[in-house]
Amino acid sequence: MQTIKKRIAEQIVNAVKGLNAEAELNTADVAAMLEYPPDANMGDLAFPCFRLSKTLRRSPVQIAETLAQGLSCDVIEQATAVNGYLNIKISNAYLCSHVLVDILEKKESYGAPDLGKGKTVVLDYSSPNLAKPFHIGHLGTTVIGHAIKNLHEFAGYQCVGINYIGDWGTQFGKLIVAYKKWGNREEVENGGVDALVDLYVRINNAISGNEEQGIVPDPSLADEARAEFHKMEMGDQENLELWRWLVKLSIKANDKIYKQLGITFDSYKGESSYTEDMPAQIEKLRNEGLLKIDDGASLVDLSEYGMPPCLILKRDGSTLYPTRDIAAAYDRKKLYDFEKCIYVTSTQQILHFKQWFKVVELMGYDWYDKLVHVPYGTVSINGAKLATRTGNVVLLKDLFDAAVEKVKGIMEEKNPDLKGRDDVAEAVGVGAIVFYYLTNTRIKDINFNLEDALSFDGNTGPYVQYTYARACSVLEKAKVENTSSDFIITRNEEAELLKVMSQYEERVLNALQDYEPSVIARFILDLAVAFNKFYHECRIATEADEAIRNTRIKLTEACKYVLGSAFSLICLKKTEKV
Ligand code: ARG
Repeated sequence: MQTIKKRIAEQIVNAVKGLNAEAELNTADVAAMLEYPPDANMGDLAFPCFRLSKTLRRSPVQIAETLAQGLSCDVIEQATAVNGYLNIKISNAYLCSHVLVDILEKKESYGAPDLGKGKTVVLDYSSPNLAKPFHIGHLGTTVIGHAIKNLHEFAGYQCVGINYIGDWGTQFGKLIVAYKKWGNREEVENGGVDALVDLYVRINNAISGNEEQGIVPDPSLADEARAEFHKMEMGDQENLELWRWLVKLSIKANDKIYKQLGITFDSYKGESSYTEDMPAQIEKLRNEGLLKIDDGASLVDLSEYGMPPCLILKRDGSTLYPTRDIAAAYDRKKLYDFEKCIYVTSTQQILHFKQWFKVVELMGYDWYDKLVHVPYGTVSINGAKLATRTGNVVLLKDLFDAAVEKVKGIMEEKNPDLKGRDDVAEAVGVGAIVFYYLTNTRIKDINFNLEDALSFDGNTGPYVQYTYARACSVLEKAKVENTSSDFIITRNEEAELLKVMSQYEERVLNALQDYEPSVIARFILDLAVAFNKFYHECRIATEADEAIRNTRIKLTEACKYVLGSAFSLICLKKTEKV
């Protein structure tokens, strides 16, 4: 659609010149003014003439009418003036000879914007605090982050995905206390995530008490945990050795989730890596006169910017979350010379990022405006809020397992002979969760409903993955005898399908601009709907006329590429069979 809009805009610019030689219009501006009419019967694109009225000293109605007479090019089938709008219908012949041919040639790289050549984007996402359960609150940062990475890669950027693991902090002190009290190496080693979560929940219950289970709070355990962590900070070999082992186990436990999602990271450089880098930044803050001492703590006063102070050092001299973020950003700039460094976290951290981004600016680093925070709303499951400190957590792994089990059940009924059923069930079960999540605008809070997510009928992952499999199965059965690219459109459904596909690049650009993968999820739904209409209304492989049959098979192939490409952007697996 980008090319189509540009071609139409050129026509409009020329025609306007004919009306008034002095009128200064540029093609890009006009292209951006083209709208999608609310009702497809009005046309495929509409140009509102109201803004030109002043320059051209004519009424919008007159302008639209004159333009309607004056446009002619291969993209435009028909241009009609309606109430100050110029409504344009795109030519079917153009859709065939350009859009379809283009998709068949570029395959899954069709629609890739050419934006990022030679530029690097760093993405900090997932980044869970280790030694704590990996719960469904992490789904957002993990899949939104990875989708934003994929979108940038698709647009030609060099991307570095960083899992900035929370591998330092008092939670390790707690886990060490729990392990020393109740754990043993073999059990924890073999028990994987569950063993770690058990220890974590048990120590938190023991510290804070649990009325239901009759556990009386024992705050002295919190002191013990702090002491164990302090020992780590002081370089105690035994604790550091335990810590290294726990970090390794936690990373391994999370790996299965990443594998199910098809996600890998380029770096696991986490919070513990910045201990030695922080003093230089603290020194710089001090030299710039930015540090204030308040009740023994060091902070940067941000009242001038309407924010609470950014805490840099606690009274006891220990560093904080923002201190580490500043050191890490400096390190990343040095290592990757990023064009942008993107952080994906829940909305609860908006203030944190605003504060330390401001501090980076005040420190005089000229790359402060290349730091981007991308927040997302909270997740609850069928109404229940998630808490990590109690046993009341929904682990991401359990959510995935539940989805996969349900899909297995459905498939047993629907398609009992399917080969590789377990893999397909995993792709569809996990895909259902991812898709359900990503169809929502990221900033909105979500209440997860597993039944809805797994339905094969609604606007769901199973529905779109099923559509992809349907296109694959048509292609498997259809013989392409003819390699001619003389395509012919005879039905509205064919043209509609091509028009949706022609919008792909534009949607990708919108998704990139707003850091909004939901734009792609919705595009996938639009495309699936258009393909299914086409599939139901038009004979494909069984069509008697050779040219029509050939076009329809090629349309199906094109749809498979565009759907496949869009699936990859949002971490959905391409299911050839469902
Ligand atoms: N570990 C943090 C958490 O779980 C998220 C880290 C986000 N990244 C960052 N650079 N602060 O809340």
